[in-house]
Amino acid sequence: MNRFEDQTVIVTGAASGIGLATVERLLSEGASVCGLDIQEPISDLTAHSERFEFLTLDVRDAEATETAVTAVVKKFGRVDALVTAAGVAGGGAVHDLPQEEWDRIISINLTGTYLSCKFALRAMLAQEPIVDSHGRSARGSIVTLASIEGLEGTSGGSAYNASKGGVVLLTKNLAIDYGRQGIRANAVCPGFIETPMMAEVFDMPGMEDVRDSFRSAHMLRRFGHPSEIAAVAAFLISSDASFMTGQAVAVDGGYTAGHDHGLVAMMGL
Ligand SMILES: NC(=O)c1ccc[n+]([C@@H]2O[C@H](COP(=O)([O-])OP(=O)(O)OC[C@H]3O[C@@H](n4cnc5c(N)ncnc54)[C@H](O)[C@@H]3O)[C@@H](O)[C@H]2O)c1
Repeated sequence: MNRFEDQTVIVTGAASGIGLATVERLLSEGASVCGLDIQEPISDLTAHSERFEFLTLDVRDAEATETAVTAVVKKFGRVDALVTAAGVAGGGAVHDLPQEEWDRIISINLTGTYLSCKFALRAMLAQEPIVDSHGRSARGSIVTLASIEGLEGTSGGSAYNASKGGVVLLTKNLAIDYGRQGIRANAVCPGFIETPMMAEVFDMPGMEDVRDSFRSAHMLRRFGHPSEIAAVAAFLISSDASFMTGQAVAVDGGYTAGHDHGLVAMMGL
C-alpha cells in the first residue's frame, strides 16, 4: 500500500521507539521522510536512502529546527505532515522536584513540540493545498505524541504530565487556528509502550511491582508495541482521517476506559 506516495513527513524523535516505528511505517507506505533526533538512529534505514533523510538536532533549538525544515522543503519540495515524537520521561513529587528537572522536561516535551510545529506550519502555510477528487483541500497534517498522562494524572507524574497535558491543548489550539487553511492537528495519547523510554523507567531497581501494576491497569493486560502507535499516527496523517482534527486519541489498551475492581472476574469471566 502506497498511501503516502509523493508525501513528505518530518518525524522528530526518529532515532528510537515510537518515532522510529513511525518512520519505518511511513517509509513502507511510500512516504519521503526526514527524521530529526538528538541521537543517531538505532536501526539501519538506509535501504530507503533516496526517500529518507536524517538530521541530528535538539528540538529545543529554534534555529536548528528552522534550518532543518528549510532543508526538507529544498530537498523534497513540501512538508505534508509532521509527527512530534521527541520526548523524555521524568518527574517526581513536586516538593522534591528540582527546577532544572522541571525545566528540562517542559522544554523538550512542550517547548520542543511548539518549535517543531511552528516551523512546519510556516512551510505548510507557504505551500499550495492538495485538492482531492471530492474537492477537499488539504495543506498539511500534524500529529503530536502526547500521552494518557496528558489526559489524567499519575502518581509522581508532575512535570511529565504537565508537559503532555500542554501538548494536548496546544494540539487542539492548532486545530482551531489552522483548520481554515486546511491543516489538521491531532494528538496521540499512548498507554505504556515498550520502548527504551519505558525501559528507562521500569528497569530501575525495585520497580517490578509498579511495572506489574501499570501492566494490569491496561484492560488488555499488556503493554503496547511502538508499531501499534505508528499505525495510528499514519492513519491520522492519511486522508482516511480527513475529517479528524483537534482530537486527543487514546491508544492505550483500555487504560483510560475506567477501573476494573474485579467484579466480573469474581463472577467467573
Ligand atoms: N513509551 C511510552 O510508554 C510512551 C507513552 C506515552 C507517550 N510517549 C511519548 O512518545 C514519544 C516517544 O517516546 P518513546 O517511548 O518512543 O521514547 P524513546 O526514548 O524510545 O524515543 C524518544 C526519542 O526522542 C529523542 N529526544 C529526546 N530529547 C530530544 C531532544 N531534546 N531533541 C531531539 N530529540 C530528542 C531521543 O533521542 C529518542 O530517540 C515521547 O514524546 C513520549 O513522551 C511514550
